[in-house]
Amino acid sequence: MNENQTRPAIATPSQRTTANLNVVLLPSLIDPDSLVNKTVIVVDVLRATTTIVNALNHGAIQVLPQPSVEAARTAHDAHNGESLIGGERGGKIVDGFHQGNSPIEYTPEVITGKTLILATTNGTVAMEQCRAAKRILIGAMVNLDAVAKAVESDSQVTVMCSGTDRIITSEDVMFAGALMDRLLKLRAETDALPDVLTDTAKLALDHWRTTEGAIQAGKPLADFFRNARGGINLVKIGHDADIVFASQINTVPVVPELDVASWSIRLRA
Ligand code: MLT
Repeated sequence: MNENQTRPAIATPSQRTTANLNVVLLPSLIDPDSLVNKTVIVVDVLRATTTIVNALNHGAIQVLPQPSVEAARTAHDAHNGESLIGGERGGKIVDGFHQGNSPIEYTPEVITGKTLILATTNGTVAMEQCRAAKRILIGAMVNLDAVAKAVESDSQVTVMCSGTDRIITSEDVMFAGALMDRLLKLRAETDALPDVLTDTAKLALDHWRTTEGAIQAGKPLADFFRNARGGINLVKIGHDADIVFASQINTVPVVPELDVASWSIRLRA
């Protein structure tokens, strides 16, 4: 961005008394009860949330996220074996599961009309931490603008980054910053009270704006992902195609929502 372009202002605390846009860098870094009355967007760009967005876009009826492999097997049995069971450990398909956690393997032929029971190391575990929230949406780079639009009028918005193996990972923080950026721009067009960002939201925003500058100068987003914690392992185990898919911003413009009562993710009407 050059000097002549203006960015929406971030409010000072005197205009709004507490921060309303937050980024949680890892699920363990928040008291789950503090999410009451908040809209939460869970993100695991590589790959759980990208996979969920693509599976639902390709016709899955619902995705039932599970905190463990054992819980997924129990849920599958409870569906009399009629669901598809998917997920990973160490990035690889779990023994006995139908599918792994690669977004591109969830083609319409595989997933249309099916319930997907999904257990991943980080993404589906991060969702557990959000049970107290008012609304839970599923975000990824592939549905970035659709999610921003869906939460445009929500006052309290938190992005929950899943991390990789309980460590902060850059690609999730980039998504969080990109969402903050989109929201500030969307909300600048209304008369609503200006937003106040927490320090972690500001860090995420800075991280995204630096990345965006490099993208505009010709560096693909996938290159950043390949060097991030989540991407390094995927390259090692031969899943570079997933990184490329996950880096394509706004290519799958649907908004999955996790209903807390049924613990089921479906596309928002
Ligand atoms: C996870 O939820 O742990 C990730 O999506 C792992 C992966 O499949 O790369």
